Amino acid sequence: MQYRKFCGKDVSILGFGAMRLPVIDGDPKQIDVGQAEAMLDHALDHGINYIDTAYPYHGGESERFVGNYLQARGNRERIYLATKLPSWLIKEEADFDKFFEEQLEKLQTNFIDFYLIHSLNDKSWKSLKKLKVLEWCEKKKKEGKIKYLGFSFHDQYKVFKKIVTDYEKWDFCQIMYNYMDTRYQAGVRGLRLATENNIAVIIMEPLRGGQLAKEPPAEIKKIWEKFPVKRAYADGALQWLWHHSEIPLVLSGMSSLEQVMENISSAENAKAGLFTDKELDLFKMIRRTYLKRSPIRCTSCRYCEPCPQGVAISTCLGFYMMSVIYDDQPRASMFYNQFLKDENRADKCIKCGECEEKCPQGIEIIKWLMETHKSLNKTKVEK
Ligand SMILES: NC(=O)c1ccc[n+]([C@@H]2O[C@H](COP(=O)([O-])OP(=O)(O)OC[C@H]3O[C@@H](n4cnc5c(N)ncnc54)[C@H](OP(=O)(O)O)[C@@H]3O)[C@@H](O)[C@H]2O)c1
Repeated sequence: MQYRKFCGKDVSILGFGAMRLPVIDGDPKQIDVGQAEAMLDHALDHGINYIDTAYPYHGGESERFVGNYLQARGNRERIYLATKLPSWLIKEEADFDKFFEEQLEKLQTNFIDFYLIHSLNDKSWKSLKKLKVLEWCEKKKKEGKIKYLGFSFHDQYKVFKKIVTDYEKWDFCQIMYNYMDTRYQAGVRGLRLATENNIAVIIMEPLRGGQLAKEPPAEIKKIWEKFPVKRAYADGALQWLWHHSEIPLVLSGMSSLEQVMENISSAENAKAGLFTDKELDLFKMIRRTYLKRSPIRCTSCRYCEPCPQGVAISTCLGFYMMSVIYDDQPRASMFYNQFLKDENRADKCIKCGECEEKCPQGIEIIKWLMETHKSLNKTKVEK
């Protein structure tokens, strides 16, 4: 395993994300404990020393599983443990302690090495600040119950900038980043801003939740064939991240022992500056070719929002683009049906056209919202 400095610690460049553990009968709450333990055993035996979990993963069972595992193996002190404050469940100040104590109990520990405010966005940041979340976090740091404080992020760059500049003492942050998403959410600008502000950056969703590991369409395959070294698609995506020396830690949500083995092997072969300029251009070409597959040029700038009817326009269009770009209708449909509230879905559009007047790309938003609903509502799943 290789290690890079992260908040002054030697952290393995590959972190174990406990969000996609193997489960029994497709039930996310029923972790296949035997398999998941074998995966963690292999990971720790091969030098991984960072585990990332969170309150909601596996319906609350991920933290419990990790806690039981560390207790049974007696290796809590050997690893850096990260978990997160469920920002969307915090309604009053007393909730901070309530959730934190529950997490310590499930994880069977009296401190968290890396504690994140989970999934910050414009709305949750405003409301948590009002509830004095930073004062609470600083108190926990003083008590030694939180060693390092960070946040994970899902919103636009300008919100990321606001969060970074609102508070001078962030130790680290966690952003979605991969060779496809350099201009999405925090993106490359967020990575640079954090680095300039001495905030260490952890990468999540390095394979876009698995999309970048799948067999790509023929035109993308042709570009991969131009690389001088043949790699598995997952390996290529991970190497692209580690090529960047400013990235100390990449989390992977591995769901089988085989994936753990493959990704450890990738980490062992990683190297800052691995790719030549020509190869980096090939990654850009892959990105452009993927994006060209979408008939919509939406960049998620959200100038079209807010919609007077409450339609989450850019999220809806984003799911539609995902289904077309990666040929992944089932996954996009699952996101559309599970993660969007009924009142924010595309079928709530009344065709008033306010969004189209504001769209800088001139997108026929109404037409594509209709198409989104038609295409992604087909396989509606139970909520
Ligand atoms: N804080 C937040 O808001 C937040 C959000 C998302 C994630 N996270 C954290 O970040 C971690 C990483 O994100 P992620 O799970 O989305 O990572 P990811 O690496 O983008 O996606 C993981 C998926 O990629 C596929 N995969 C992984 N290794 C592979 C390999 N060698 N070959 C083929 N396929 C492979 C698997 O998909 P299949 O199961 O389909 O094979 C796996 O479930 C999570 O586990 C979680 O701990 C945090």
